[in-house]
Amino acid sequence: FVSRLVIAIDGPAASGKGTLARRLAAHYGLPHLDTGLLYRATACALLDEGLRLDDIEAAVAAARGLSLTDFDDQRLRSREMGESASIVAALPEVRAELVDLQRRFAATDEGAVLDGRDIGTVICPDARVKIFVTASAEKRAQRRALELAGRGEKADYQNILADVKKRDERDSARSVAPLKPADDAVTLDTSELDIEGAFGAALAIVEKGRA
Ligand code: CDP
Ligand code: CDP
Repeated sequence: FVSRLVIAIDGPAASGKGTLARRLAAHYGLPHLDTGLLYRATACALLDEGLRLDDIEAAVAAARGLSLTDFDDQRLRSREMGESASIVAALPEVRAELVDLQRRFAATDEGAVLDGRDIGTVICPDARVKIFVTASAEKRAQRRALELAGRGEKADYQNILADVKKRDERDSARSVAPLKPADDAVTLDTSELDIEGAFGAALAIVEKGRA
C-alpha cells in the first residue's frame, strides 16, 4: 500500500484529541483506536473485582484479558474511570502488556488513527503524521464540565479543573511513556479553536505530513 497512513494523536485530558482522531479517521476511511479506553477498561475490571489499582499482577491479567470489541461502555468515560485509568497507566507492566494490541491495530494495510498519550513516542514511533493536541487547563476543564453535564454527571468546574491538573501531573511525571510530544510531532493548540476549527487545522497538518 503506497498510501498507508498512520496518524498518531496525543495530548492531555480533554484537549480534543479523541474528537479529532474520530473525525480524521472518518475523513480518510481509516480505523480508529481510542487507546485511553484500554487503560480505562483495565481499571474498570479491577474495580469491579474489588481489587486495588496498584495490584500489578491483577492489573496485567486484566489488561491481557481485554478485547477491543467490548468497549462501548459509557461507564468507561466517567470522571472516576479517567482518574483510575491514570493510576493503572503508570504501571510499566500494564503498559508493556498493551503494546502489542495497539501495534497490531495500527498494522493494517491502509493505516489507522490512534489517540492517547504515547502513540507518537512509543506505540507508533514511525507514524507518518504525529499531532500533539493541547489546550489550556481552564479550557479543557470547561469542555469536560460541559461534556459531563450533557451526560447528566455531576460536573463542578473547580473540581474538574483540579482533576485535569492532577491527571496532567501524573501522566507527565511517570517514568514510563510520560505524556510529552514526540520530537517530530506538530503541536496543535486548540484553546481558541472550536471543533471545526481544530479539525481544519489538523487536516492541514496531515495533508502536509503525507505529501
Ligand atoms: O479523554 P481523556 O484524555 O480524559 O482520557 P483518556 O485518553 O481516556 O486516558 C485516560 C488515562 O489513561 C490518561 O490519564 C492516561 O493516564 C492513560 N493513558 C495512557 O497512559 N496512555 C495512553 N495511550 C492513553 C491513555
Ligand atoms: O479525547 P480528549 O479527552 O482529548 O477530548 P475530546 O473527548 O475529544 O473532547 C472533550 C470535549 O471537548 C468534547 O465534549 C468535545 O466536544 C469538546 N471540544 C471542544 O469543545 N472544542 C474542541 N476544539 C475540541 C473538543
